[in-house]
Amino acid sequence: MIKHFLSTADWSQESLNRILEDAVQLKQQPLHNHLNGKSIALLFLNPSLRTRTSFELGMSQLGGTAIVLQPGQDAWGIEFEPGQIMDGHAEEHIKEVAKVLSSYVDMIAIRAFPEFKNWQVDKLDHKIKGLAAHATVPVINMETIIHPCQELAMMMTIKNHLKVVKRKKFVLTWTYHPKPLNTAVANSALLISSKFGMDVTLLCPSPDYILDQAYIELAKQYCQQHGSQFNITHDIKTAYQDADFVYAKSWGALPFYGQPEAEAKVRTQYKHFIVDGEKMAITNGAKFSHCLPLRRNVKATDEVMDADCCVAIEEAENRLHVQKAMMLNLMNQPLNTEK
Ligand code: CP
Repeated sequence: MIKHFLSTADWSQESLNRILEDAVQLKQQPLHNHLNGKSIALLFLNPSLRTRTSFELGMSQLGGTAIVLQPGQDAWGIEFEPGQIMDGHAEEHIKEVAKVLSSYVDMIAIRAFPEFKNWQVDKLDHKIKGLAAHATVPVINMETIIHPCQELAMMMTIKNHLKVVKRKKFVLTWTYHPKPLNTAVANSALLISSKFGMDVTLLCPSPDYILDQAYIELAKQYCQQHGSQFNITHDIKTAYQDADFVYAKSWGALPFYGQPEAEAKVRTQYKHFIVDGEKMAITNGAKFSHCLPLRRNVKATDEVMDADCCVAIEEAENRLHVQKAMMLNLMNQPLNTEK
């Protein structure tokens, strides 16, 4: 069976920990030849700064080659639905794309954001699943409805600062943004913090902003396994009080999915969820992070972004190290004793 990295939910905490240990080593010693002669295709259906740079550079630092393809721009548009009469924009089907790329490269990574029309359809994550079903090489998720590479970078950063993460208070706070954004990073933040045994608090303005039940239930289950807590609150002070790590993200309300104008009327009431110095002052000296990109003075103030507590740049750098560790693992070249 081919080993993919589609979701951290498919991996044990122990396996993910080994990846993080390798990432720490790679941070100290970045250059290796372990992937000499290996290659990865990076399919970007959506824009990126960090993901593209860190994967391309990471593969090169391991001696391999990365090929970036932007279907619909510099590569043919792809149809993902089975059984379609392909008389629209897409020139080829994922069945052929997956098989052809598998015959050239050793790994395929994809970024495929949801369509933002129907959550019941988008939540099936059918684009990456279609790719994985037809590829004969490992597939890596570069963000779909979850963002597992970001999860690893976030946990590497948290571990660096908190050392022991079990039972430390992790707060995922919703923040305002002019657009209803993807829930991927928020879903992922819940998955990894709970998987590593943190006490998890989800802070969001109202029940409309609670994330999909599938992720809430998984997070609750992981917390239960560790004997840690999982809480949802709409009260800012309760959430920030005693927090050890604050993570911010904006996302659209699922009950208004596909109705951005209606959702905007609700969302604009909650601009005060911005992460600011006053809120951070009631934490337990918490570090703050965000996946980036971040709109300053909308999601977090300049004061917070420029403070020593902000570790968002470190987390972005850690994307490079964790992704290299993951590629080594998928190519059966881990640095640690698992080999
Ligand atoms: N955090 C993240 O995935 O950044 P990019 O969208 O720039 O890749």
